[in-house]
Amino acid sequence: MSKVAVVGAGTMGNGIAHVFAQHGWDTALIDVSTDALARGVATIKKNLERQEKKGVIGHQVSVDTIGRITTNTSLEAAQEVEIVVEAATEDPDIKFQVFEDLDRLAPSGAILASNTSSIPITEIAKQTNRPERVIGMHFMNPVPLMPLVEVVRGKGTGEWVVERTIEIAKAMGKTPVVVNDAPGFVSNRVLMPMINEAIFCVQDGIATAEGVDQVMKLGMNHPLGPLALADLIGLDVCLAIMKVLQDGLDRRKYRPAPLLKKMVAAGKLGRKSGQGFYVYRD
Ligand SMILES: NC(=O)c1ccc[n+]([C@@H]2O[C@H](COP(=O)([O-])OP(=O)(O)OC[C@H]3O[C@@H](n4cnc5c(N)ncnc54)[C@H](O)[C@@H]3O)[C@@H](O)[C@H]2O)c1
Repeated sequence: MSKVAVVGAGTMGNGIAHVFAQHGWDTALIDVSTDALARGVATIKKNLERQEKKGVIGHQVSVDTIGRITTNTSLEAAQEVEIVVEAATEDPDIKFQVFEDLDRLAPSGAILASNTSSIPITEIAKQTNRPERVIGMHFMNPVPLMPLVEVVRGKGTGEWVVERTIEIAKAMGKTPVVVNDAPGFVSNRVLMPMINEAIFCVQDGIATAEGVDQVMKLGMNHPLGPLALADLIGLDVCLAIMKVLQDGLDRRKYRPAPLLKKMVAAGKLGRKSGQGFYVYRD
């Protein structure tokens, strides 16, 4: 195992750092916000405790995992790393700047991976002088539990980079599936229009959120209804992904539901803000 940097300590970044560190990687967790770093590490500790209680890992694994994580507020911590996984806010301007900076600061041989849900990897790669080393490594939420990593091959991604990323995902205990670059890749091209349509059903008064989720759970065997899933993902993230599908594919077909826009504007972002389609008390 070698060293990795994870950029962004939010919902996804702390999960990605957790899994890398648990599998033996020295992990530099980087965020612009010291609060986000503190929350990220607290979440990792809580999730490790949960894994211990379930008997999935022993206490020493928890201790070693935490011991391998350092927190940083500067991208300069991305030194001597084999790979950087960027999991910052889903905003093209933020990601483009992060990749421009990483290109300067990370070792020239390092792989630069993005956990973006929808922004084309080829566009992100253009911000660097090493497009062959830029790839999508799309983890699923919650990262410690979900087996899939959608490995996204950009137009210029080198084949050895794809192969090495597959190896890294497997070494983290994940199952990689390689897809070609396109807005939303496969996962969100299929998932997000379903969530958006579920929101239209609530907006149009066809059913309550509970009703929509019951239909999909009991009738389609989904473990989680689409609106509970939207709350878990974050409604702001869902809206950002719909906008990328709209801009990149078809403006009418991928129009975000006005109710989704309204809820995001009102700060109802789902679990992370305490309210979305459901209310979360802890
Ligand atoms: N939430 C999900 O279910 C999910 C699933 C798969 C992929 N993703 C993707 O993962 C990425 C992160 O999403 P999230 O849900 O963890 O978001 P989040 O809002 O929980 O966390 C984003 C973090 O990025 C930090 N950040 C912002 N600008 C930064 C910068 N310049 N440098 C370093 N850190 C910066 C923020 O402070 C914040 O802590 C997004 O690209 C999103 O599309 C999300």
